[in-house]
This record gives sequence, structure tokens and C-alpha cells, in this order.
Amino acid sequence: MKNSKSIKKCLFPAAGYGTRFLPATKAIPKEMLPVLTKPLLQYGVEEAIEAGMDTMAIVTGRGKRSIEDHFDVSYELEHQIKGTAKEHYLTEIRSVINRCTFSYTRQVEMKGLGHAILTGQTLIGDEPFAVVLADDLCDNDEKSVLTQMVEVYAKHPECCIVAIEEIPQEHTNKYGVISGELIEENLYKVNDMVEKPDPKDAPSNLAIIGRYILIPEIFEVIETTKPGKGGEIQITDALLTLAKEGKVLAYKFKGKRFDCGSVDGFVEATNYFYDLEKGKI
Ligand code: UTP
Repeated sequence: MKNSKSIKKCLFPAAGYGTRFLPATKAIPKEMLPVLTKPLLQYGVEEAIEAGMDTMAIVTGRGKRSIEDHFDVSYELEHQIKGTAKEHYLTEIRSVINRCTFSYTRQVEMKGLGHAILTGQTLIGDEPFAVVLADDLCDNDEKSVLTQMVEVYAKHPECCIVAIEEIPQEHTNKYGVISGELIEENLYKVNDMVEKPDPKDAPSNLAIIGRYILIPEIFEVIETTKPGKGGEIQITDALLTLAKEGKVLAYKFKGKRFDCGSVDGFVEATNYFYDLEKGKI
């Protein structure tokens, strides 16, 4: 199964505290905040299903139990609304539950995204997998970002793929930033990557967003990665080790991305999806 071209598993690190959304995230996980009527995490799971994945692995933490309840049948609710005009409200989530399986593990200490991904190893095993950060909400008229990345991976199965977008230079201190050599249209071979660099030190304005395809080798690399920026174990630092071996590609995706981890991005996404639903765009 190692380095097989077909990606079936998707990991969702969802253990973070979501401090930028306090007090809303005191008792509600950030990943469960809804854009219109759907929680962020459900958008992410639907994107993974569209990209051909059927096994959802979710890294949770304390106070995140509503995630498990969401991706499960609520018999009482089903009973109450069966045969009524409201039944259609559950159509999408029922379809999600029927099309894939969910498994969970807890990150006991929030030691960063790299550490959260390592925590998920027990659910992933020894095979390539996707990672979705549900607070980066993506939309596309044609193929989803993850579908585009799966296609890139199929051509480069020895590499990790990270999704990137061009950002204003003054925002580099919010992202992992790459530099690399353009090898195909929209595809770079990464030779450097830095977590949240000051704009003056950033190697480019190409920022990593919350979509990755990772080869299983990443787990042993994370194990030896020391805490970096903010004292956290950073996935960017682990990926740099693989980039030095020529094993990381950065893909400039087609589509829109909203940073729903920030209030501004969340409001922008809500307006966008509302207009989309009302047929205004
Ligand atoms: P963020 O830094 O955006 O999430 O991490 P956060 O820490 O929850 O948010 P703020 O900054 O306090 O508002 C990106 C993703 O990585 C997960 C988060 O849940 C989020 O999906 N994460 C981060 C973990 O699962 N574990 C961690 O230790 C850190």
C-alpha cells in the first residue's frame, strides 16, 4: 500500500483552541461553527468525499465531542422530522454519514499542527493521506482543491503536495511560506519553507493553505522535528526536511479560499456562500 496512488484517508486536525473566536469557541469547537447552516468541518469532509476519499480520521481534544455527534445518526431527531416538510434539512449530512467512516483520536496536549498530524498516525497507518484544515474553507466551480491535488499526486507519488496561494507580502507572518522552482504550470519544486516569516525575511509571497497530501515518511520526520515558531511542532519544519530531499511540491490551486479561522475571513465566507445560495453570484 505504501506510496499507492489512490488516497482514501483524510486527516482533520481539529484539536486547536480556536482562541480567535472566543468566547464562541469556549464550549463549541471552532470546526463546528457554521457557515450558513453547515459546520466548517462538514464542508471539509464533503470536499474529501468528492476527491474520492472514504475514511475520515479526526484529531480532536477536550470539549470537541459535538464533532462525533454531528457525524452520527440522531435517532430522536430522525424520528421527529421523518415524513415532515423539514426532512430535507438532513439530506446532506445523511449522505455524508452513509458514504464514509469516521474515526477519532485525541491530542492530549496542543503542541502544534505537526504534533496533531503525528497524533493521527494511529488512524492513518502506513499510507499516503490528505490533510484538511477545516477552517480554510475552499470553493470551486469545477474541481475542488483536494481533487486537483489528488491529480497532481497521482503524477508525483513520491512527493508530498502542499496547496499554495499568492498573498500580499505584508501577510507572510500568518502563514508557512515556500520558495521553489516552477516545474510545470502552477507547480513548484519546493527548496525552502519558513513558518510565519516577517515580510522582510519571507522567501516569497506563496503561502501554504490548509490542504496537504502527505507521504507516510512524514511521521518519522515529525518525530525528530524540534519545536519551532511559538514553541510548537510545526508541519512546515518537518516538510522542509523532506523538501531538502526533493520530496515536496507546492501546487497553486484554482479556486477560492476563505480563512475562517479569522473573523474577517469567516464573515467573507458567509457572505459569499449566502450570495451563491441565492444565485447572486
Ligand atoms: P490554528 O492555529 O489555526 O488553530 O491551527 P487554533 O490554534 O485552534 O486557532 P487560534 O489561533 O487559537 O484562533 C490550524 C489547525 O490545526 C489544528 C487546529 O484545530 C486548526 O484546525 N491544531 C492546531 C491542532 O489540531 N492541534 C494543535 O496543537 C494546533
